[in-house]
Amino acid sequence: MANRQLTFNIFRYNPTNPKDKPHMQTYQLQETEGMTIFVALNMIREEQDPSLMFDFVCRAAICGSCGMLINGKPRLACRTLTKDLPPEITLLPLPVFKLIGDLSVDTGTWFRHISLKTEAWIHTDKEFDPRAQEERMDNKTAYDIYEAERCIECGCCIAGCLTANLRPEFLGAAGLNRVARFMVDPRDKRSAKDYFEVIGSDEGTFGCYGLMACEDNCPMELPLQQQLAFVRRKMAWAGLKR
Ligand code: SF4
Ligand code: SF4
Ligand code: FES
Repeated sequence: MANRQLTFNIFRYNPTNPKDKPHMQTYQLQETEGMTIFVALNMIREEQDPSLMFDFVCRAAICGSCGMLINGKPRLACRTLTKDLPPEITLLPLPVFKLIGDLSVDTGTWFRHISLKTEAWIHTDKEFDPRAQEERMDNKTAYDIYEAERCIECGCCIAGCLTANLRPEFLGAAGLNRVARFMVDPRDKRSAKDYFEVIGSDEGTFGCYGLMACEDNCPMELPLQQQLAFVRRKMAWAGLKR
């Protein structure tokens, strides 16, 4: 498969330039062994067009900054091999998030907003004692927290979610996964009723259609279906009690 001639159709738009208009631009590139979309974009930028904007930091599916639509699917550029794609490849920025330019979007502001909205920190009235031993936690709980914490905030689940595309305030799978992380943490003293105030609406758990595009698009293979069902069960029960 190596040595194919690849055609890249790439979305171009710089919102800070009033004269610019959204358009597609085509680049040709010779495929190399083990080429990822990330490598291809760097080659295009270095050899053909230094003005091309896209994000990356880690190249290893850790930082979550290289999410984009690759032939219509939300994927990480650093994890997607060109050999798994046809020779014509279309790249678009992730929807839902604010466009910075070309393929670069601002996921940080969205995730910060969600963190503040769901108060994504441990709620406790215990005083912190730096000399005390850390409290023990059973393995199962620690594992469940670790599992939810594997989210790299890439935004792929949000970009592929129908509700998130229609409702700007919808928490999406990443937001509800974050809530699940604090629900299972015994150090967090929030009750189901407290959570219901924040996520017991169409912008939270009841806006989810359950078709699971989020789980299909998650590059970290997080068990989002399980997390969403867990949160929905808790909130349905809290709603009934109300
Ligand atoms: S299952 Fe829910 S959160 Fe996941 S993509 Fe569908 S509507 Fe969005
Ligand atoms: S849940 Fe998965 S797809 Fe969604 S932001 Fe986290 S790592 Fe990305
Ligand atoms: S560059 Fe960090 S996840 Fe792709």
